[in-house]
Amino acid sequence: MNKPIYLDYNATTPISPEVATVMRPYLEEYFGNPSSSHIYGTETKKAVELARKQIAELLNCFPDEITFTSGGSESNNFAIKGTAYQNRDRGNHIITSTVEHPAVTEVCQFLEKEGFKVTYLPVDEFGRVDPVDVEKAITPATILITVMHANNEVGTIQPVEEIGVIAKKHNIIFHSDAAQSVGKIETDVQKMGVDLLSVAGHKFYAPKGIGALYIKRGVKLQKLIHGADHEQNLRAGTENVLEIAGLGKAAEIAKRYLQKNTAHMKMLRDQLYDNLKKELPDLKLNGHPEFRLPNTFCRGCLPLRKY
Ligand SMILES: Cc1ncc(COP(=O)(O)O)c(C=O)c1O
Repeated sequence: MNKPIYLDYNATTPISPEVATVMRPYLEEYFGNPSSSHIYGTETKKAVELARKQIAELLNCFPDEITFTSGGSESNNFAIKGTAYQNRDRGNHIITSTVEHPAVTEVCQFLEKEGFKVTYLPVDEFGRVDPVDVEKAITPATILITVMHANNEVGTIQPVEEIGVIAKKHNIIFHSDAAQSVGKIETDVQKMGVDLLSVAGHKFYAPKGIGALYIKRGVKLQKLIHGADHEQNLRAGTENVLEIAGLGKAAEIAKRYLQKNTAHMKMLRDQLYDNLKKELPDLKLNGHPEFRLPNTFCRGCLPLRKY
């Protein structure tokens, strides 16, 4: 049976052959624990640290600002709960948007049950948050702003740089869920002005079940996974060397081809839209006409989720 053509690269991507090649020795040969000080450990430690450097280069940060996680959901949980618990004595208010992935919204809803207050900002017809609304929502109790970089359904890119400036002005920690944008558009944490940024490997040709959280130097998070002192004592658990090596390689490839791939995706996306529009003149586009992921075309009819 012929399979349908797979177009949903926001749901997940296949593992790139280059990534699989880099991973293979850690599946078949190198098995040491990266915490071991002997040769078996140093071999795998080297792979973990190379991957950390590769992710850091893609995000334009220091390698020690990268913590490996099990993916986008864990990164979001760590960023949001970690900030909330760490700053409980400073305030209990969090600002987010109505169009976040459940990996952010559910975390916020969970924290509401724990006594935190959450403001869910509305978006415009294109799915964009207005930075003016962000600033208006700030109270003396605000400890965190969490607004995604790009939406997983309609692809709209949020004005994160402007929100970053506001967060900095008010000395509030700013987190962005970049699960959909990393590898597709520039995700320079310095330009974005974020303190925390979530990465999900399987959205850009790395395996499923691996991700990272950028934690700006000086930002403190309460640990969520307790145990030994792995990952600078931020997340316990022997590192998933095989997948970390794959994530690093995927980041290196993404950086190498970012401009070329962005332009190529955009060309294909717009060609698909133009051809469909010829056949279906009533076709409507969901998402922002300009500030939108280059790979994302969402046909109008799906209402944006409301909370
Ligand atoms: C915007 C966004 N955030 C978070 C996630 C969760 O990532 P993961 O599947 O790696 O836990 C996804 C995955 O669909 C996503 O699209």
